[in-house]
Amino acid sequence: MWMMFRMKAQTIFCTMISSAMAQNGVLDLTSLHEYANQDRPAYIQKDNTPGNNRISNIGATLGRVLFYDPRLSVDGTVSCSSCHQQEHGFGDPDIASQGVAGATGRHSMRLINARFGRERNFFWDERVETLEDQVTMPIQDHVEMGFSGTEGDPDFSYLVDRLEAIELYRVLFTGLYGDGEITEARVQGALAQFVRSIQSFDSKYDEGLTQVNNPNAPFQNFTAEENDGKRIFMSPPNAPGGGAGCNACHQAPEFDIDPNSGHNGVTGTLAGGLDFTVTRSPSLRDVVSADGTPHGGFMHNASLSSLLDVVNHYNAVPAVTTGLDRRLAGPPPRPGVTQPMGGQRLNLNQAQKEALVTFLGTLTGISVYTDEKWSSPFGEEGGLSVILLTADETEVGVQMVNGSPRVTVSTPGVPRTRYLLKISEDLVNWSEGTPVTANNAGMVTRSMPATQGARYFRFVYEVETE
Ligand code: HEC
Ligand code: HEC
Repeated sequence: MWMMFRMKAQTIFCTMISSAMAQNGVLDLTSLHEYANQDRPAYIQKDNTPGNNRISNIGATLGRVLFYDPRLSVDGTVSCSSCHQQEHGFGDPDIASQGVAGATGRHSMRLINARFGRERNFFWDERVETLEDQVTMPIQDHVEMGFSGTEGDPDFSYLVDRLEAIELYRVLFTGLYGDGEITEARVQGALAQFVRSIQSFDSKYDEGLTQVNNPNAPFQNFTAEENDGKRIFMSPPNAPGGGAGCNACHQAPEFDIDPNSGHNGVTGTLAGGLDFTVTRSPSLRDVVSADGTPHGGFMHNASLSSLLDVVNHYNAVPAVTTGLDRRLAGPPPRPGVTQPMGGQRLNLNQAQKEALVTFLGTLTGISVYTDEKWSSPFGEEGGLSVILLTADETEVGVQMVNGSPRVTVSTPGVPRTRYLLKISEDLVNWSEGTPVTANNAGMVTRSMPATQGARYFRFVYEVETE
């Protein structure tokens, strides 16, 4: 893992990326990806973003670097992306994921559309109250990333010291927060912004809903089977023609989990015990990949390996266990008896089951699996070249202000970052430089009285050394 900075990129001369650098990932901080204002359909209304941590382009970019940086684990081998892989819907095909000190106790969760739900608590058992609180827990988990402060592990302050020694993080934290100080709350803010930015609304389902604008009406772009599956998903259990009641808990059009859900009758743990606490599911959007293959087993214990197995589970939910959601319990055996004897029976026939599976496949999007903005910024060897200034976008203009000519020099830079503007009359001798700080949008601008004769300008980024 190493970093290379074009620290003195200058704005009047072209800077070339050498072939050695090309093996690195390149992160252009002067032209950030769009995270803050992504398109999404008007019918997507649920949003768990807190007022004090709205997504910004620089914030999600910092989150992206953190998400893919294995230096966030004690021994530098595990990043968030080890267990949340873009090509697998930000989940993990393995039943349990490998951390720095062993395997996780539950199956990893997909992170797509984590923002768009009514449920604000996270993890399969909803044990944390906000995404902000969640995102540093894996770092502080002894098994996952190892900064637990227990069992001989260093604690989070050790990670803070490690990150503060990395110039890239000084730049990025300054870009988001105005100075380079690193705290757990700041790491949380950035990681949560990145996770919330991961969205997927270019599925066949979205195309159909946009055309028809009614989730319950047949979609024009669906096959008869897909429309049948949709109707079964949306209809209450045992409705005429087949009903499965799925929408009561996985609510269209976000397909996020109902905050009041109990568990669904899948109660086994990976260790072989029983667990009645699992009441959260990731969104059912992107529950399978574009070609229909699962991103790994379904449920917290990955115990169901196909969507047909999932449908069969709901078609005949096992006998009632503590905490089973009452919507999945069967009817009482006889009038006056309140305790149902078994789980629900949907009585779906094979064609209806298959229609439901086919419908679930229409919820999968396209771009989220490949879009660079959610991919690793690091190169294959772990290297990263960071662009803090570009050569070709500097503008110099002259305007009359109160009767006197003024020169304005401006260039795209990194929000809130401090640059020096150097001036020369002969391209040989350069001034010491005047500090100029980029505004929140990343523009670095300096204006001054114009003087006679040729003047050359260049912006410079210098690493501050203590
Ligand atoms: C070693 C594997 C591993 C690593 C590393 C890891 N996770 Fe996870 N992640 C999991 C597992 C397993 C779960 C489910 C755990 C549970 O519910 O008990 C999970 C759950 C989550 C959830 C909850 C999703 C939801 O819908 O409730 C989020 C968010 C998340 N991880 C983000 C991250 C971030 C951010 C990082 C890096 C700082 C990270 N994870 C690192 C394995 C991992
Ligand atoms: C009473 C609420 C409820 C109903 C109704 C319900 N589910 Fe679920 N569903 C859940 C819960 C809770 C989980 C997480 C359970 C676990 O992991 O053990 C879940 C998990 C899932 C998963 C796995 C998601 C993943 O990421 O692994 C799929 C797929 C699923 N449900 C599909 C369906 C379908 C299809 C129906 C209708 C036949 C349905 N559900 C009805 C509550 C419900």
